[in-house]
Amino acid sequence: MDRWGRGMSKYVFDQEWHKERERLQALESLFDGSSRRLLADLGVGPGWRCLEVGCGAGSMALWLADRVGPTGRVVATDLDTRFLAGRDRVNLDVRTHNIVTDPLEDEAFDLVHARAVLVHLADRQQVLKRLVTALRPGGCLLIEDVDFGGPTASMLAQYLIAPRYPGPVAAERVYLAIAAVFAANGADGSYGTRLIADLLGAGVAGVGAELHTPVISGGAEQWTRGTVEQLADRLVGTGIVTAGEVEQFLAASAQPDTYYLPPLMVSAWGQRPPS
Ligand SMILES: C[S@@+](CC[C@H](N)C(=O)[O-])C[C@H]1O[C@@H](n2cnc3c(N)ncnc32)[C@H](O)[C@@H]1O
Repeated sequence: MDRWGRGMSKYVFDQEWHKERERLQALESLFDGSSRRLLADLGVGPGWRCLEVGCGAGSMALWLADRVGPTGRVVATDLDTRFLAGRDRVNLDVRTHNIVTDPLEDEAFDLVHARAVLVHLADRQQVLKRLVTALRPGGCLLIEDVDFGGPTASMLAQYLIAPRYPGPVAAERVYLAIAAVFAANGADGSYGTRLIADLLGAGVAGVGAELHTPVISGGAEQWTRGTVEQLADRLVGTGIVTAGEVEQFLAASAQPDTYYLPPLMVSAWGQRPPS
């Protein structure tokens, strides 16, 4: 695999897409609140050394840098760090870095956080083990990942309220088409369901988890919609949805009298056992 993630898995999304920053910022708006709450519960505070993996548009890396203060430090990694350009902090080290293949310090961090990243990696169990090794004994891990494929696609679609849309079966096919595009790139749209087992398998102690997602009123978020828009041709290419059905989903999800669920986020935490 090369540094851009090509090989066993190729990152599904295109950072060059003209609305990619907006799409990632929408993800942050939906889930930063719960991520911050969980990190605060884990005790993250002044002096902590943190690793933020696949930092995307960067809000969690910046929040961590502010929270750990001048005596702490944050290493924020991503295949492509363009969205953190110019948003410097003295205690923030932004690295262009492939978490699958590039070197990573052992026992260097009090916290490792990765949200919506492992889902994209074909070798996610290996990466999880690397992340545990990067923690000092007793250090904390918060891994958050999506679930929208398989049976969850049907469940998510059941929450759709859209007066001018064909109904849940059509919405389910949109989620399933996204999962199929993910799978074609080595990603797993059901990874959230496997996260707890993988943490246990990686030797993480004191594992706990919750799942959540907000109910969206149409037009209020651009994460799900941006995903459908960016992947539109590839969704149609799966044969699961037509171009017309993709258009219908985008039109319905822009209407304020529509309500729908974005993917579930599974947040799971634990500790590297103290030595
Ligand atoms: C869906 S975004 C999530 C961004 C951010 N973690 C968040 O939740 O707001 C996934 C991020 O993982 C990064 N990524 C994908 N594969 C990666 C890899 N092999 N190594 C490091 N980062 C990777 C992408 O570039 C992208 O920024």
